Amino acid sequence: MSNPQIALPARDRRGRALRDLRISVTDRCNFRCVYCMPKEVFGKDYQFLERREILSFEEIARLARVFRDLGVEKIRLTGGEPLVRRNLEQLIEMLARIPGLDLTLTTNGSLLSRKARALRDAGLKRITVSLDSLDDAVFRRMNDVDFPVTRVLEGIEAAAAAGLSPVKVNMVVKRGENEDSVLPMARFFRGSGHILRFIEYMDVGHTNGWRLDDVVTAREIVGMIGAEAPLEPLDPNYRGEVAERWRYRDGSGEIGVIASVTQAFCRDCTRARISTEGKLYTCLFATAGHDLRAPLRAGASDGALREAIAAVWSQRTDRYSEIRTANTAKLQKIEMSYIGG
Ligand code: GTP
Ligand code: 5AD
Ligand code: SF4
Ligand code: SF4
Repeated sequence: MSNPQIALPARDRRGRALRDLRISVTDRCNFRCVYCMPKEVFGKDYQFLERREILSFEEIARLARVFRDLGVEKIRLTGGEPLVRRNLEQLIEMLARIPGLDLTLTTNGSLLSRKARALRDAGLKRITVSLDSLDDAVFRRMNDVDFPVTRVLEGIEAAAAAGLSPVKVNMVVKRGENEDSVLPMARFFRGSGHILRFIEYMDVGHTNGWRLDDVVTAREIVGMIGAEAPLEPLDPNYRGEVAERWRYRDGSGEIGVIASVTQAFCRDCTRARISTEGKLYTCLFATAGHDLRAPLRAGASDGALREAIAAVWSQRTDRYSEIRTANTAKLQKIEMSYIGG
């Protein structure tokens, strides 16, 4: 670390360190989940980013190093769907070579049975798969491209077989859409060694028509599952973990609930995000980002990049989920598919 002026880790105006970086590697996805990329908006004519607009692997790896030097310990690759970016294994290989980083990836699992082994060989250690229902009809309706659930399940098994461990499974629960899938999902993954987490449906972006009534709360979910199989709370794995952990009392595993609507976790939020085109966002619900691609392409030094990022982080005051109101829900926020959750 060649710049002694920047104290590590970088801290924002609420004293929160910069620890996690989520990097979106593509704004494209082969699904059209109704709550994320509804077809009416992301149709045939939707203009995705062009190749020259998106960060190259070299640019991403360089930023990853700079962020690591500012205190980042975990990098999560997101999308859109990260596995639709060609040769992603090459990027994994480049990032896995950077010491001191926990490297992971969030995927919809559709291409995983084909790619799990290559990802593992490239140096990926663990993975998170989004899966909203085991009911094929419900799943096809939610992904809206008629994708069968069996192929995602095959992907999850391929990931585990390749040694990507643990496999975490994320289920967004939307009232009236897939709440009936909560218990079957819990039963299916109990005892599997995979960690199932339920996510409260959030008002990300402005295309999904979110309403508070659509949220099935973490409390309800724990209540439903606990009534069938007794649960007890577990301590977080680390400070600021977004999932609240619960274990089955009979020792058959754990689940998590991510209560980003009903129990906001902004106070410990150490996450920064980089969009596909290289903008830095300090909140999932931000309305504007800070361009890092321009200085990258203009030949800025690592030190200059570090200072620019530290300056943005040091001004950060975000706590959107804590102050969410009917009004903020109407803001022109960035889309989930653009920033990767
Ligand atoms: P690990 O604990 O390392 O496995 O990661 P994680 O739980 O932080 O990662 P994951 O990407 O699986 O997060 C799960 C979900 O929580 C995301 O898809 C989002 O829906 C939500 N989430 C993650 N980070 C934030 C955040 O900063 N703010 C809000 N509001 N929601 C978040
Ligand atoms: N609310 C909660 N989670 C969401 N995701 C996408 N959109 C939303 C939303 N509106 C989840 C995906 C995936 C992760 C990247 O974010 O299902 O698990
Ligand atoms: Fe694609 Fe994930 Fe959005 Fe679904 S939630 S459309 S899989 S990016
Ligand atoms: Fe962090 Fe913003 Fe999410 Fe709060 S709403 S936890 S500040 S990303």
